[in-house]
Amino acid sequence: MKMNTLEKLAMNNPVRLLIQRHYELPLLEKLGGRLDGMNVLEVGCGRGVGTELLIERLGAAKVHAIDLDESMLKHAHKRLSKYDSTRLKLETGDVTAIDAPDQTYDAVVNFAAIHHVPNWQAAIAEISRVLAPGGRFFFQEVTAQWILRWPYRVLFEHPMENRFSSEEFIAEVENQGIKVSDNWEKRGGGDFVFGVGHRDETSHP
Ligand SMILES: C[S@@+](CC[C@H](N)C(=O)[O-])C[C@H]1O[C@@H](n2cnc3c(N)ncnc32)[C@H](O)[C@@H]1O
Repeated sequence: MKMNTLEKLAMNNPVRLLIQRHYELPLLEKLGGRLDGMNVLEVGCGRGVGTELLIERLGAAKVHAIDLDESMLKHAHKRLSKYDSTRLKLETGDVTAIDAPDQTYDAVVNFAAIHHVPNWQAAIAEISRVLAPGGRFFFQEVTAQWILRWPYRVLFEHPMENRFSSEEFIAEVENQGIKVSDNWEKRGGGDFVFGVGHRDETSHP
């Protein structure tokens, strides 16, 4: 589900950029390490701030960044125009139907996109499918606790059914063959969950 106008305003501004650069990325790096030389997929890339950080700060060799919303991709194209096709592939795409063969990526990164997906379990199954054995899934997600608060219910537009707690999110990631163990953290009193898991080496479908 695309963001409504108010949520776009909340996401596409310098404060959000600073949070992503100075809080979210360092926390994900602490949990999962760097991406030097790796082939990375970013799902729900929005305006491309995370994509740029994956290349510049974590050392990704190549990022395939997808988003459902053409208007967000327009911003991303502008921001990321300095990268050629050997570093970046930026295109419309749906995390529940990723256009890539099985086991393509060394890492998949999700900065707060999956809570926008009605069938979020299908998104995690797809991420698991395209991760190479041993590949890492970096995630920062927004839980039901936040989505169901009245100001956000009124101002923003999210799928309201079938949302998840931190624990339910981690359990589904593990259920899809991505081992997180205790490598995750709640933040914001449980409104947000951060973590990194490794795709199981043995149980690929
Ligand atoms: C809250 S924004 C996060 C954007 C960006 N990752 C960030 O952190 O600034 C969620 C993004 O997920 C995208 N999105 C929603 N459903 C999606 C889907 N099924 N597949 C890919 N992207 C999706 C939205 O268009 C939006 O850009």
